[in-house]
Amino acid sequence: MDVQISESSLKIIKNKKLEYELPFLWLRDNCPCNNCRVRETQEKRFMLSSIPVDLKPKIVNVNENAINIFWPDDHETSINFKDIEFLTQPRKPKKILWADTFIPNYYDWSELLQNNDVAIEAFSDFISTGAICIKNSPCIPNSLEKLTPKLGPIREVLFERIHNVSVDGHVYNIAHTSLEVPPHNDFASYSWPPSVQALHMLENECSGGESMIVDGYKVLSDLREDCPNFFDVLRTFTVPFREFDEENETYANEPIIRLNSLNEVIGFRYSNQLMQMIDPRKQNIDLFYKAYHELCKRVNDKKYKSIFRLDAGNILLVSSHRVLHGRKEFKPDGKRHLQDAYYELDNIENNLFLYKNLRGN
Ligand SMILES: [Fe+2]
Ligand SMILES: [Zn+2]
Repeated sequence: MDVQISESSLKIIKNKKLEYELPFLWLRDNCPCNNCRVRETQEKRFMLSSIPVDLKPKIVNVNENAINIFWPDDHETSINFKDIEFLTQPRKPKKILWADTFIPNYYDWSELLQNNDVAIEAFSDFISTGAICIKNSPCIPNSLEKLTPKLGPIREVLFERIHNVSVDGHVYNIAHTSLEVPPHNDFASYSWPPSVQALHMLENECSGGESMIVDGYKVLSDLREDCPNFFDVLRTFTVPFREFDEENETYANEPIIRLNSLNEVIGFRYSNQLMQMIDPRKQNIDLFYKAYHELCKRVNDKKYKSIFRLDAGNILLVSSHRVLHGRKEFKPDGKRHLQDAYYELDNIENNLFLYKNLRGN
């Protein structure tokens, strides 16, 4: 192992290859000592602005396991290589994109609630595919509250805490009719829509009304490949969405596609029913509509639709910034009652991490 000290960083060279280049500010900022951390919580206490930007180490020692540094004020920092190695481990399961032949896996309600191994399997699956089903759940209203120890707190939005979907309740949305509901995600009218949605079938005696889900990331990945210009328009052009009734008025003006700084898709906002009139004077409106036409064609193409029947006692759980849901038209020839509640994906990812840690991974 070789060490080179450059103007502003420490180079660690192993077998003649540069293993790490560690900026001095990085080394100082990550000092794990008890003065630089809050001992009880391991939170960082050290503030970078308390040292000069051109800080350089006074003495550097490196062995197989750790880097040891004395700074000009005699503060000592020791950083283990295994802590740096750990940073390369993926924290979340890898996404698996799917199309029409996909059917979500089913997990038993009681097992999911009581057995952490089942929860680990279900949540890993959920984070990878964006959709799972829970079977044998109680056909009792508001049972979705009982999932909070596993899924995290309910993400409340306006209208109702647990939303009722039936033809004889409060009608403020196409889902409260017997019409086909095209694939969409809920609450596109919020600047941060709920990122997980549970659809709990309490009664389903009607013919028709099969559930359909679409992997929005798969649609967008194909669109990006086939029509990169359209993809680009849809990630920059903002679109107004509104959901309202006599007492509620929710509104967001956001692009349909959201990317992270690595240009990966991290959000899809798609709701034909909530989309509002766009100011026709807006620049690129013509191009937007051509791109949106292509997107609509793809979202509604049967090659992307996974279709299955949600029976009473089944809960469909979707990662709702990614997976769109809808249902076929049904005949109102029997009882049909569905309840919706929302959660946040961060909390599920967090629980997966915790359960794995408890188990020793
Ligand atoms: Fe919906
Ligand atoms: Zn320190």
